[in-house]
Amino acid sequence: FLLLVALCLIPTSYSHAIPASKIAKTPLITRAEAMNTMRNAMKNDKINCVVCSTIVQGLNQLISEEEEEEKIDDFLKKTCVTLDLAQTEVCNDMVDEYANELYFVVERVIFTPDELCGIFVDDCGIPVNPLKVLWNLTIPGGKPAVKPWPTVKAPKKTQRVLHLSDIHVDREYVEGSEADCKGDQVISTLCCRVYPEMGTSQNNTAIKSPAGKWGAVYGCDLPFRTFDAAMRHISETHKDLDYIMITGDLEAHDIWDYTKEKTTANIANITQVLFNYFPKTPIYESIGNHEGVPMDAMAPHNMDEYDTRGPTWLYNTLADEWSRWISPEAVKGVQYRASYVEYPSPGLKLISINTIYCSKNNFYLFINQTDPDGTLSWLISELLDSETKGEKVHIISHIPAGDDYCLKGWAHNFYDIVNRFENTIAGQFYGHTHDDHFEVYYEDSNPAGRPTHFNFITPSLTSYSFHNPAYRIYTIDGGYEGATYTVIDAETYTTDLNEANAKDQEPQFFLEYSTRDEYGLPDLSPSSWAGLIDRLAVDDDLFTKFHRFYFRSTHEDNCVNDPACRKKFVCGLKAAKSYEEDNFCAGL
Ligand SMILES: *[C@@H]1O[C@H](CO)[C@@H](O)[C@H](O)[C@H]1NC(C)=O
Ligand SMILES: *[C@@H]1O[C@H](CO)[C@@H](O)[C@H](O)[C@H]1NC(C)=O
Ligand SMILES: *[C@@H]1O[C@H](CO)[C@@H](O)[C@H](O)[C@H]1NC(C)=O
Ligand SMILES: *[C@@H]1O[C@H](CO)[C@@H](O)[C@H](O)[C@H]1NC(C)=O
Repeated sequence: FLLLVALCLIPTSYSHAIPASKIAKTPLITRAEAMNTMRNAMKNDKINCVVCSTIVQGLNQLISEEEEEEKIDDFLKKTCVTLDLAQTEVCNDMVDEYANELYFVVERVIFTPDELCGIFVDDCGIPVNPLKVLWNLTIPGGKPAVKPWPTVKAPKKTQRVLHLSDIHVDREYVEGSEADCKGDQVISTLCCRVYPEMGTSQNNTAIKSPAGKWGAVYGCDLPFRTFDAAMRHISETHKDLDYIMITGDLEAHDIWDYTKEKTTANIANITQVLFNYFPKTPIYESIGNHEGVPMDAMAPHNMDEYDTRGPTWLYNTLADEWSRWISPEAVKGVQYRASYVEYPSPGLKLISINTIYCSKNNFYLFINQTDPDGTLSWLISELLDSETKGEKVHIISHIPAGDDYCLKGWAHNFYDIVNRFENTIAGQFYGHTHDDHFEVYYEDSNPAGRPTHFNFITPSLTSYSFHNPAYRIYTIDGGYEGATYTVIDAETYTTDLNEANAKDQEPQFFLEYSTRDEYGLPDLSPSSWAGLIDRLAVDDDLFTKFHRFYFRSTHEDNCVNDPACRKKFVCGLKAAKSYEEDNFCAGL
């Protein structure tokens, strides 16, 4: 998707670091010249500086000439097709989906081809990178003396908490359609669907990998029946759940085809299914980037045209659906910024925070990315309140701040907030990546220093892309006065979709692993996680196991013996702040 942003949507990627004013004038070129330049550049392989600058120039020009939007759309569609970024159908729908947001943002930021291309293409232009723009938040002083991480050997009482993430139900999944539909295009088409214009159908004898009844370990989302079967299975097997956490992304990956109606219906359906299977279990959710229409589009209140462009329709939908599980006060929080606090047990505050306000694909943020809707200020005030009261806090959210999907300005502040409130935060639970991994925080962002905290990143229920479905259950020290609300262990469950399809039976979920057992951890403290990272760097068997869990047994490659590959995985665990791998991974 980055390349799509880089090319089709490149002009949206600018920041308030340079004050908004009129669009910079650039040398004029004709459409034919632009196309020619691009074709030639593509012939010489790959997107380069020339291609990038040409696209931006062409777009700039059309906008500065105040061309009709259809003409600009047309330019983008042709560019997308010419560069073979996606199938024609997808290119067209993609532009239709994003154009309106794109033009709105482009009109409000200043950019030149050089500046923009410097962001995405190495050695091209001026590297003012809006993805890395910093802004400062005042984090209150008075941090209490650091207490050792509470490792509870014999908890008085424990709670069992289910964590689901990235469900992504595809209502247009077609059994028997092409599961292996990826061409050479940059933007991958969602597979396991019928695309008449692309010659993929259900009965085509040329189909390489027919989509199975229960899903496919390809670029495919889940058929509804698999989601339904998984929820039934969980409700029948795990009768001891105290509550459920769901960290966002309920829609399929056909991001060129999102509508408010479809998203609203999908959210309502999934909520109802959950409610039917778990009528007595509270469910706490956080918003995901795929809930946006277009994807990730969530403007903050201080933006122009908030009434028409803002995500109010979505926040109200979620507020209505979630109101059966959260307080009226929390519902108001959802309506305002899709974030809220709730108390699953006395002494435990759960903070559900909208991290789409840090998404680099939330293009509205390039107009102003400073603390959208005061969300981090609100987080600080909630943490301070809990610190004062002696409560423990769990943070649930979609995007972990160590992922480069999260803008650096947000991640930088978020990291400092976690370190400031390390005694109060007892657990953090994320999703978004679809992978099974974690991230460790260090004091003063020094990877050789004291580990202060960590993020659980829970694997997805969807198989997209090339994963087996998974869910996780935490055992938490909680439910009594004075509980630490730290996680004592985590069990991750998965299934084998190939086997389900082959045997024509519904997916059988099984315990994949218990975190402490499999990784040999005495407890789940930040220092134990940090120690695990060090061992993963040197212990081949352990790394192989981690890599298998990461994708749920779908990738048997030789990463363990490939130093660059292995470093990438290990490095990701050390960096809980985006765009700082140079710092966090220097010692690897
Ligand atoms: C943020 O604070 C740091 C350190 O206090 C300072 O160096 C930096 O210039 C500030 N950045 C902005 C954008 O204000
Ligand atoms: C595939 O073939 C079957 C049997 O010939 C037919 O019933 C079905 O409608 C066909 N499906 C499609 C999508 O063409
Ligand atoms: C949810 O949608 C599916 C079809 O996609 C339908 O079969 C099911 O009955 C719906 N469930 C509820 C509870 O609305
Ligand atoms: C950006 O938003 C912040 C708060 O969300 C606000 O304080 C600031 O004035 C805004 N900046 C501009 C240039 O509008």
